[in-house]
Amino acid sequence: MANVTVIGAQWGDEGKGKLVDWLSNRADMVVRFQGGHNAGHTLVVGNQTYKLSLLPSGVVQGKPSVIGNGVVVDPWHLLEEIAKIGAQGIEITPDLLTLADNAALILPLHRDLDQAREAAAVNKIGTTGRGIGPAYEDKVGRRAIRVGDLADREALEAKIDRLLAHHTPLRRGLGLPEYDGAELLRALEEIAPKILPFAKPAWLSVNEAVKSGKRVLFEGAQGALLDVDHGTYPYVTSSNTVAGQAAAGSGLGPKGPGFVLGIVKAYTTRVGEGPFPTELFDAVGQHLGTVGKEFGVVTGRARRCGWFDAVLVRQSVMLNGIDGIALTKLDVLDGLETLKICIGYEVDGQRFDYLPAGLKAQSAIVPIYEEIEGWAESTQGARSWRDLPAAAVKYVRRVEELIGAQVALLSTSPQRDDTILMRDPFQD
Ligand code: IMP
Repeated sequence: MANVTVIGAQWGDEGKGKLVDWLSNRADMVVRFQGGHNAGHTLVVGNQTYKLSLLPSGVVQGKPSVIGNGVVVDPWHLLEEIAKIGAQGIEITPDLLTLADNAALILPLHRDLDQAREAAAVNKIGTTGRGIGPAYEDKVGRRAIRVGDLADREALEAKIDRLLAHHTPLRRGLGLPEYDGAELLRALEEIAPKILPFAKPAWLSVNEAVKSGKRVLFEGAQGALLDVDHGTYPYVTSSNTVAGQAAAGSGLGPKGPGFVLGIVKAYTTRVGEGPFPTELFDAVGQHLGTVGKEFGVVTGRARRCGWFDAVLVRQSVMLNGIDGIALTKLDVLDGLETLKICIGYEVDGQRFDYLPAGLKAQSAIVPIYEEIEGWAESTQGARSWRDLPAAAVKYVRRVEELIGAQVALLSTSPQRDDTILMRDPFQD
C-alpha cells in the first residue's frame, strides 16, 4: 500500500513519535488529521531530542507536512513551536508546512473555559488544559473561527460577535471576567500575517500527493481509547482518534489511509482520569513508570501504569482496522520475573471479552490475568529477533495471538535505528 496511517491503540503515549519519525523517512508527505497541541511526540535523533505537539513529525526529516482540517489549531502555540524547532535548526517554511484553511482555531477563551471547568468540576476529566474540548465544541456548534477567516477582517468581526454571544454567559457562570472582543480581534490581526502564508486547501494538497503516487503517512495523536465515540467516555479527548478519521480529517476518501499501523506499548499507561482495569498501585507499577520514564510530554504529569490489556487492544484492532502493530517499550519489562496479561474481564460475576460501554461497568471491571514467564536479559537496542531472549519472543507471540494482529515493527529503544522490521507497512 502506498499510504500508512499510524494510530495509538491504547490511551496514547504508545511511542508514536519515534515510529512516525522512522516511517517519515520512507514517506513523501506527513499529515496530522485530529487533535491539537494536547498531543506530545518525542523524537530522539542522534543526540537531539525534539518535542512536538502540533507540528507533524515529518518536519524533522524535512518532509512536506500537513496540518489537516480535523486538527484544532492554537495559532499562538503553532508560532511558538515553529520558533522552538527553528532554534534547533529546523526551519519551517510554507513549502514544508501546509495548514488547512478550514481547520478550526483554538482561542485563549477555549483554554480559559477548559481550565475553569476542570477547576470547578467534582469529577474532573484530567484534560491537558489546552482548550481542545471547547474548541471542538465551537466547531460542531458552527461558531468556530477557522484559519481562513484570518484573511477576512469583516468575517472575523462578525464571527467574534457570534462566538462571544455564546461564551459571555458561560464565562459569567464560571466567574471568569468578560472577554474583550476588540482585544481578540486585535490579537488575531496581529498573528494573521504570520499564519496565513501556511494556509492552503490542504485536502487538495493531500489528494494531489496521493494521485501522483506519493507515499503519504497519516499521523494520529492520542489513542483509540481516548476516542470521543469509542473510548472510555466521558474520560476521553474531544476528537475521533481512530484510523477512520485520517480520511475525514484530511479531506481524503475512505480508501486513502492505506495500511493501518497500530502502535501498542508492551504494557498499559494512561494520563488523566478514567477507568483503567489493569492499573497497578504496587512496586511493579512503579517499576514501569520509572524505567519507562512515564511522564507526559505536554503536562509533565506522571502516567498511570499497568499490565498489558489484551482485551482493550483486541477491541482497538477492530475499531481501527489495524493491519499490523508496532510494539514499543518491550525493554521496560526486562528483569521482571513474572508478567501478567489481561485476557478477559469480570463485571459483577459476568464475563466480558470486550470493554462494556457504560462507565459504571467499566469502573467495576475485575481483570482476568494469564501469567507468563519474564526474562532477565536486556532487550534494549536489539536490532533483530535473534537478539531477543526466548521468553521475550514468547511474550510477543502471545500478545499477537490474543489481539488478533501481527507485529510489523518492534521498537527496542527511543533511538530511531533500534527498530526491528518484520513487515514494511509501505510495501504491504
Ligand atoms: P484533552 O484532550 O486535553 O481534552 O484531554 C482529555 C483526555 O485525553 C485527558 O485524559 C488527557 O490526559 C488525554 N490526552 C490528551 N492528549 C493526550 C496525549 O497526547 N496522550 C495521552 N493522553 C492524552
